[in-house]
Amino acid sequence: TGPATGTPTGAPTDTPQDAVAQQGAYLTTAQGARPSDTDHSLKAGPRGPVLLQDHHLREKITHFDHERIPERVVHARGAAAHGVFVGNGAAQKICCASLFEKGKETPVFVRFSTVLGSRGSADTVRDTRGFATKFYTDDGVFDLVGNNIPVFFIQDGIKFPDVVHAAKPHPDREIPQAQSAHDTFWDFVTLHTEATAHTLWNMSDRGIPRSYRMMEGFGVHTFRLINDKGDAVLVKFHWKPKLGVHSLLWEEAQIAAGIDPDMHRRDLADAIESGAFPQWDLGVQVFPDNDEQMFEGIDLLDPTKLVPEELAPVQIIGTMTLNANPTNYFSQTEQVAFHPGHLVRGIDVTNDPLLQGRLFSYLDTQISRLGGPNFAQLPINRPHAPVNDMLRDGMHQTAVHSGVAPYRPNSLDGGCPFMAGSAETLIEFPEVVKGTKVRAAAASFDDHFSSARLFYASLSEIEQEHVAKAYTFELGKCYEKAIKQRAIGVLRQIDEELARTVAAGLGLALTGEPAESSAVTVSPALSQLGGTWPCD
Ligand code: HEM
Repeated sequence: TGPATGTPTGAPTDTPQDAVAQQGAYLTTAQGARPSDTDHSLKAGPRGPVLLQDHHLREKITHFDHERIPERVVHARGAAAHGVFVGNGAAQKICCASLFEKGKETPVFVRFSTVLGSRGSADTVRDTRGFATKFYTDDGVFDLVGNNIPVFFIQDGIKFPDVVHAAKPHPDREIPQAQSAHDTFWDFVTLHTEATAHTLWNMSDRGIPRSYRMMEGFGVHTFRLINDKGDAVLVKFHWKPKLGVHSLLWEEAQIAAGIDPDMHRRDLADAIESGAFPQWDLGVQVFPDNDEQMFEGIDLLDPTKLVPEELAPVQIIGTMTLNANPTNYFSQTEQVAFHPGHLVRGIDVTNDPLLQGRLFSYLDTQISRLGGPNFAQLPINRPHAPVNDMLRDGMHQTAVHSGVAPYRPNSLDGGCPFMAGSAETLIEFPEVVKGTKVRAAAASFDDHFSSARLFYASLSEIEQEHVAKAYTFELGKCYEKAIKQRAIGVLRQIDEELARTVAAGLGLALTGEPAESSAVTVSPALSQLGGTWPCD
């Protein structure tokens, strides 16, 4: 069996079709002819010039010249593994997606990544990590394209090019922020203060994970789950590593970046090869799907906010085991195409404006990264469910379609059933949408600091010390004093003592205003909230 039909673990095995370029006992050209020699060009005598007619030389070099595809515009450096997700049945009450059924095994492919570095950069830099999972379900592909940090820098997809321009290497010297001038990154996050919580997570120990196997993962946005009765709830997805969450010390991260820049990808591959299969529980925080889409005063459509687990516990709905390494980096880790819009029956999106921007971006970028619109036919991207679409032709088409009428209804092609019964189709939740057309955000999006305060207050003393050191070190790389000074003002909105320590470390005055209210909301004890949770 190959990826199109599925294997229990998700690890692709070669099918004759996939192995199309590696059949037979002898070396051949791409056309199947056997060259007499592949080490010498065809020349006019052993010391003469090379002849233009040497088609074997030209085929070999031309193909080599085109071996590279563009790296991802973000998350270029990654490492991946195959595995299996097993549902425990707890989500069945709230979601009709087959992958959550009790005992159901769904093959997965997971790609971990850094965000900002290029393909050849070091693993242990201070950065957000991507945690993208492709579930090859019976009902089609579901991608959970998350990060190891539960909040994001911006609230609206339209700012994504801006934050990435600010955080990528400086345009003049192409030196990454983490090694030289930091001015554009810090300029952005201090002027766009909704980035405060994400930046704080980056400056905490979470910004330098010890291993991909020891990272949490977060869907970040609020998603909607729908059950067979059509009832909806809002959820936030969480991956919980069975090995716990562990980080590197800053000094360790720097040494590792020099001694073993491949530390994280080596660690993942070695663990799997030795049979120490990494595992994560998948859980959801569940919220009622009401008109406000708020929970305990927290706006669920704002991706810069987190909901404390004391307020909404993470309920475990299944477990993922990574049990096979990719057999070829390019065909799997590089050619895999994740997309938050790859959804299956029972899982739908919300109006989070960052998520809405993402729904456009991934397919668009993959059309150029993977050379046209047919990359769903690549083995790693093929659904394990039957595909019968009306998409035709285009660059790198490898399917040989039959019939003459790729449109519906038609009276020529024998009427392939148009739609499955409503019990099998995707559910677009019939949310009522109304409003005045406007370029604006809800007033609740103006709260830029409460999630940062909650996170900072949850850290132990030594973790808070690490945060202060990280801000001092990273801001110390800024050339512009005004930017550093502005950053101190932002830190005062998180914690007065943190701002004071960093200002002292940088030899700067404590500028800016103290926070109007730096009180951290005290979470009511769970027992006080009463009721049962939907997955109980
Ligand atoms: C990769 C855009 C926000 C997680 C990418 C890629 C693009 C992109 C263009 C490269 C995809 C490819 O070439 O295949 C955006 C935009 C965002 C956004 C426009 C905001 C509007 C986020 C957020 C998360 C996230 C909030 C996490 C929740 C990822 C991950 C990858 C990725 C994990 C790497 C996927 C892989 O391993 O191939 N993003 N992104 N992105 N993005 Fe985003």
